[in-house]
Amino acid sequence: MIITYKYYKNLKVKMFLGRRVIGEMLLIDREQPGAYISFLEIYPKHRNKGHGSIFLQEVERYLWENGCEGISLKCAVDNKNAQRFYKANGFFICALSHLGEKPYYWMAKQIN
Ligand SMILES: CC(C)(COP(=O)(O)OP(=O)(O)OC[C@H]1O[C@@H](n2cnc3c(N)ncnc32)[C@H](O)[C@@H]1OP(=O)(O)O)[C@@H](O)C(=O)NCCC(=O)NCCS
Repeated sequence: MIITYKYYKNLKVKMFLGRRVIGEMLLIDREQPGAYISFLEIYPKHRNKGHGSIFLQEVERYLWENGCEGISLKCAVDNKNAQRFYKANGFFICALSHLGEKPYYWMAKQIN
């Protein structure tokens, strides 16, 4: 089945497998030099098949074509699975933040 993407004005980006939505994220400041993504999720039964990685690659392509040079995100310190996923996709931990209830890592990646 074909994978497609849809970018919405309300900042959402959705990933489709055929006609079915299998993942989504919020893409914030997409016209700025550095974009920020949050709430990335691949729906449970579609995980560990490479979908998250190609979703990130698609969004990086989109951002690069729109003049964006970097991408950042926050990842909960206890979400080791997501940290491994982001590191495998070229993100680095930049800082630890204790804002709010839970500690978060700021992670970032240069797009090129
Ligand atoms: C984090 C998340 C987005 C990753 O999405 P995903 O589609 O599972 O990611 P991928 O499939 O690209 O990579 C995950 C793993 O699958 C492996 N993988 C990739 N392609 C594969 C394939 N074809 N077959 C088997 N495994 C594969 C990767 O090597 C990776 O392995 P790892 O666990 O050693 O890192 C997903 O787990 C998720 O939605 N989690 C819940 C929400 C969340 O925590 N979001 C992050 C908030 S900061």
